[in-house]
Amino acid sequence: MPMIVIGSVSGAPGVTTSALALAATWPQPVLVVEADASGGDLIVRLDLNPERGAASLAAQQRHFPANGTVAPHLQSVRVADRSIDVLAAPVGSAEAAASIAAVLARVPFRQLNTTVIVDIGRLGPPGPSTSATTWSLLSMADFALLVSSGRPDALAHVAAAYGVVKQAAGECLRLLVVEDGPYDADEINSAFHCPGITMIPHDVRSVGLLHRNGPQTVARTALGRVFQQLSKKLAGTSVDGLRELPSCVAPVSPPVASTPLMWRTR
Ligand SMILES: Nc1ncnc2c1ncn2[C@@H]1O[C@H](COP(=O)(O)OP(=O)(O)O)[C@@H](O)[C@H]1O
Ligand SMILES: [Mg+2]
Repeated sequence: MPMIVIGSVSGAPGVTTSALALAATWPQPVLVVEADASGGDLIVRLDLNPERGAASLAAQQRHFPANGTVAPHLQSVRVADRSIDVLAAPVGSAEAAASIAAVLARVPFRQLNTTVIVDIGRLGPPGPSTSATTWSLLSMADFALLVSSGRPDALAHVAAAYGVVKQAAGECLRLLVVEDGPYDADEINSAFHCPGITMIPHDVRSVGLLHRNGPQTVARTALGRVFQQLSKKLAGTSVDGLRELPSCVAPVSPPVASTPLMWRTR
């Protein structure tokens, strides 16, 4: 089943929101794996049991490596009109980083009979650190979604890191840009030479619906409609069919510095 990795390069915001919105609109069974080494949000945001999640799974694997079943560590939660499984990360960053690294190294998420959406939070610099595991996830993903605010400073960070992220993720990289900045999709498309950009409405109301047992209307919000379309497109795209989709082409040089995009503000 497909694995979708969602992250950002400079703190989005919008990564966890996108992971939940994608899960809430995904047409098949789905598991959200919270792999943000800076600490999880889902235990609090979705009112989950803190005893079950990446930490309990990592402990089980440490003590009973042969009993590696994931199911007891998942929590099923109703988000808008969907029931999704969640593997929640501990809130504290040290515990989160340790348990996520252990879990990602040992659990074959690709072999689970469900679509897996991995929230990797903010990508640290590539290198031999905790973040190495999350960078390697990018190269294993069927789709890698990089979320950014649409503000000029945030897009400049994306532009600076785009080449190295593209190198890790390859053709499956897509950009998701929150509409909280001065640019429209065409302007960002042309600056990044990346026709597959999805603009995410800046819509506080629909973010509020992505809570545990929230009202069942997320698909009727602006945010929900965008993610419903994105989910449909990604779910209907076989990995082999990726080459037929418009794909991001790595910019020859950092694109934003050479366009008026970054210094023109409205
Ligand atoms: N599309 C959006 N529209 C409006 N507010 C948003 C949107 N995405 C995120 N936010 C706000 O930012 C906060 C943090 O978002 P989150 O997705 O958790 O960011 P990240 O996971 O990148 O740190 C949310 O609680 C919400 O208040
Ligand atoms: Mg997050």
